[in-house]
This record gives sequence, C-alpha cells and structure tokens, in this order.
Amino acid sequence: MKVMVVGSGGREHAIIKKLKENKTIDTIYALPGNGGIAADACCVAIGAKDIDAQVKFAVENGIDFAVVAPDDPLVLGAVDALEAAGIRCFGPRANAAIIEGSKVFSKNLMKKYGIPTAAYEVFEDAESALSYLETAPIPTVVKADGLALGKGAIVAMTREEAIDAVRSMMEDKIFGDSGSRVVIEEFLEGPEVSVLSFTDGKTVIPMVSSMDHKRAHDNDEGLNTGGMGTIAPNPYYTPEMADRCMQEIFLPTIEAMQKEGRPFKGCLYFGLMLTKDGPKVIEYNCRFGDPETQVVLPLLESDLFEIMQAVAEERLTAEDVKFSDGSACCVILASDGYPQKYASGFEITVDEGIDGEVYIAGAKLADGKLLSAGGRVLGVTATADSLPQAIERAYAAVPHVRFENAYYRKDIGQRALKAL
Ligand code: AMP
Ligand code: GLY
Repeated sequence: MKVMVVGSGGREHAIIKKLKENKTIDTIYALPGNGGIAADACCVAIGAKDIDAQVKFAVENGIDFAVVAPDDPLVLGAVDALEAAGIRCFGPRANAAIIEGSKVFSKNLMKKYGIPTAAYEVFEDAESALSYLETAPIPTVVKADGLALGKGAIVAMTREEAIDAVRSMMEDKIFGDSGSRVVIEEFLEGPEVSVLSFTDGKTVIPMVSSMDHKRAHDNDEGLNTGGMGTIAPNPYYTPEMADRCMQEIFLPTIEAMQKEGRPFKGCLYFGLMLTKDGPKVIEYNCRFGDPETQVVLPLLESDLFEIMQAVAEERLTAEDVKFSDGSACCVILASDGYPQKYASGFEITVDEGIDGEVYIAGAKLADGKLLSAGGRVLGVTATADSLPQAIERAYAAVPHVRFENAYYRKDIGQRALKAL
C-alpha cells in the first residue's frame, strides 16, 4: 500500500515512524516532509496548504491512504478534496475541523451542549471589546477566533495587557482575518492536561494523557512557544479524572458534533484544565498535538495504520487501541533565540546507538548533510517503566545530538514529578 502524510514537523516524523511498523505499507510519502523525515519517507515538495497539488499527486501516484496532520490543510478542506478524488483519509473534514478553526464555533458548541469551559463573550469589533474590558474581571484571556500558529491566545494579567491584545488583534490585525472576531474568556487555574483521542465520529478512544511545556525557559518562564517538551502519562490525570472527562467532556463533544451534522473523524485533541470546579476545556485541536505526539505514539502498542483505517471506515473499537504502562519524555532542541530571532543552517549530528528516538522537525538536507532550518529543530524521546526513568534517559540521550546553537529546557517533567 502507498500512504501519504501531509505535514513537515516532529509530529509527522513520529507518525511516519509508527506507520513504518505496519507490514502492508510499501511506501510512505511525506508532503513536504523535511530533511530528517527523508530518512524514513519519500519527501515530495508539495506544501501542506497546497491542496490541489496534494490531490493531483495522490491520484497520479495511486495513493491508497492519506494522513493529513496539520491544522491548516484540515481547516481548508484537504480531507474533503482528497475524499472527493476517491482517496481514503485519516483526518476530519472541514466542517468538523472548524472545532479548532474557529474559537467562536467551539465556545458556542460547548455552551449549547453544556460542556464545561471558561465563561466567555464574543466580540465582532474592537470598540465593544474594549468597552467590555473596562469592567471585565482581571486576569482575563483574549483569543483570536481563527488559526494563529498557536499564538492566538493571550493570557492578560493586567487590564492594559488585555487592551493591547484586543488592539493588536482587531485593529493592527497581527493575525489577519483570524482576529476579526475575538473571544474574551474567564481566566482558569489548575494543572493542564492534553488528551489526544481517536474517534470515528461515534466511538471515542482516548490515548495516554500528556503534559506540554509551552514556555521557552525553565520554570515556565519566557515566551509561549509551540512546545518545548512533553511527558506522558500526565500524573495529574488520575483514572477517576479520566472517567469524569469521558462522561462530561469527550462523549458529549463527539455527540454534539454528530448532532450538528459535523461528525469528527480523526484525532481530536482535548486541551484540558483541571480546575477546583472540575475539568474544563481550554481548547480543542482537530489533529495530533506537537510535541505531544512524540511521547504518545512511542507508548502505543497497537498498529497505528490499522487504527487509522478503522477510523476512516467508522469501525473503531477499544480493542484496537492499546498503550503500554510505561512513561515517555520528549525534550525539544530548538535554535537559541526561538520563538523570536534565531540563526539556522548548522549541521546536526546524531551519535550512532543513541538510546532514544530522534524526531526531526526543522531541518533540511544540503550536500548530504542535515542542517537546522527552523525554531524547533528536533525532539529527543525516551521511554521507560516510570516517569523519573524516562526523564533521566531522555536527558542522557540529549548530548548525543548536536548542532551549534542548540537550546533546550533542563526541567521537562519536573512539574509532573511534583504531582507524583
Ligand atoms: P490555547 O491557544 O487556547 O491553547 O491557549 C494557550 C495557552 O494559554 C493554554 O495552554 C493555557 O496555558 C493558556 N490559557 C488558554 N485559555 C486559558 C484560560 N481560560 N485560563 C487560563 N489560561 C488559559
Ligand atoms: N502542543 C500543543 C499543540 O499541538 O497545539
């Protein structure tokens, strides 16, 4: 079988490495992939948002199955277009991907179906948003309605920060049309948990839970990033909490999407906050998280391609999805300066026999050398029986991967250890 994976990050590398375990797959294409992914798949220079070219490639090359991993093509309708051309897909259609593509949609969905989330107001113009902020409780959170490269949520600790956020989104249009509408919501507190799930639109099977580390520096200081590391499982997410989330959040969400005529098929990501009033949804993502995927998939014992086909054919059952009892830790190596200015183009070397998986996110091949080419360059993941061991192994593996301006957090997993 021929499978194509749309996307180019560490998440896609982790998906591809897992798919390679399936013996019925002959060839995996990555569109566009990256210099590191090239070691595990045939990279084709077609961008993740170039849906017409993806469909053409799939048809001309007899692709049997497509995995669309990033949010942009999903929201733009890549799955709809591929399916219309007769290609089976893993990923939601555009009418379901809107659960990530529009915060206004997802907040209204949660309100309509009684799914716990932060209280909120929607604003269509800067004037009314600013006037609301004059008396709004502070801290507060300002969110652009549309996709914004993961940077669309601003937690404002002061009234001035909230006003600045509204001005930059609605007047200066820093996120373009994504900021034409904003959600201003209640500030919640508590441990955050990421739960990725497989769903075929009717059945939802949560994967092992995880914890992201979004800030650039140790002790959760510095700017928000795409994620500097992850651990799984998340110790705050107890079996009791998992049951509660299933009843109060996961099942109601799947049912709500079905009732709205927008059945969600693919990976639905629940970003949760465990507040003192119970678990609440911070955000939905219509895809695998990055770098959550780099700790979740290494713990998956079942065959990923079989699960993806079961999802596509709407016959998913709990028996299809088995995770190990172990733990995993992923440390992201970024270019120093990320998420702001950074230099790239440095050669990446990985020692042979390294005790861990290396997932390449931002790298290109030039004259047979792998060069850094992005903010987040790669992730180093280790698995072990316990979380402390997984963390130790991941950090023992990190020095075996080198490039000139590598920067990484030294405390991935420390917050989780405090919960144990
Ligand atoms: P999002 O882009 O929605 O994932 O938000 C990014 C980050 O902002 C989340 O991971 C949270 O840490 C924080 N955040 C988002 N919404 C809230 C909220 N209502 N209360 C507190 N923190 C929030
Ligand atoms: N790590 C968070 C995300 O993938 O959106």
